Amino acid sequence: MKKAIVVFASGTGSNFKNIVEKIKIHNLDAEVVLLVSNNSNCNAVTFAKKNNIKTFIYNSKKYPNDFNQDILLKKIKQYEIDLIILAGYMKKISKNLIKNYKNKILNIHPSLLPKYGGKGFYGMKVHEAVYANKDKKTGATVHFVDEDYDTGPILIQKEINLKLDEKPSKISDKVLELEHEIYFKSVRLFCEDKILWKNNKPLIKE
Ligand code: GAR
Repeated sequence: MKKAIVVFASGTGSNFKNIVEKIKIHNLDAEVVLLVSNNSNCNAVTFAKKNNIKTFIYNSKKYPNDFNQDILLKKIKQYEIDLIILAGYMKKISKNLIKNYKNKILNIHPSLLPKYGGKGFYGMKVHEAVYANKDKKTGATVHFVDEDYDTGPILIQKEINLKLDEKPSKISDKVLELEHEIYFKSVRLFCEDKILWKNNKPLIKE
């Protein structure tokens, strides 16, 4: 049965777009029912509007006293949803939200977690660190979200080799391509009910 997804994004939204495109070509039996963003001017919001996807702008300027994200939760609860995906979302999700959607929130991170995870490591910062450390490989990780940054149970992780002296922008391009591949794969596994939980770890049903 078709799954209802809420996407959270803060920037370019290429991961978000990729999921929507896969839905359009019937590679994913799902619907994005809402896009949540902290940034009303980002490309992800523009893309959502163009594609008739409802948007909700949520930030501390608009809701300065909503410390537990109750307003956000209430908004999401208006929809009967199956999955939340964070696609380049640069804000922390509250415990409140995580408790309400246990094992139903996915995140993509542009590194081989636990390497380069945690507060301060996001987007280009990750690739700059990989470059500065002369790492020979990097990758991307899809994981379920728990109460800390980038620490939740890993669903899929994939690595790539780096050539000598590949610059951060090049690393970013390569990793993003990988992200699109494994995020789509992860979301599809979820939508096809192919993830089972054992001892708090997600396993993929073959
Ligand atoms: C992606 O590389 C994603 O992994 C990263 O932000 C980028 C967003 O790109 N997310 C994080 O660093 C989260 N900690 P996109 O807007 O084109 O999907």
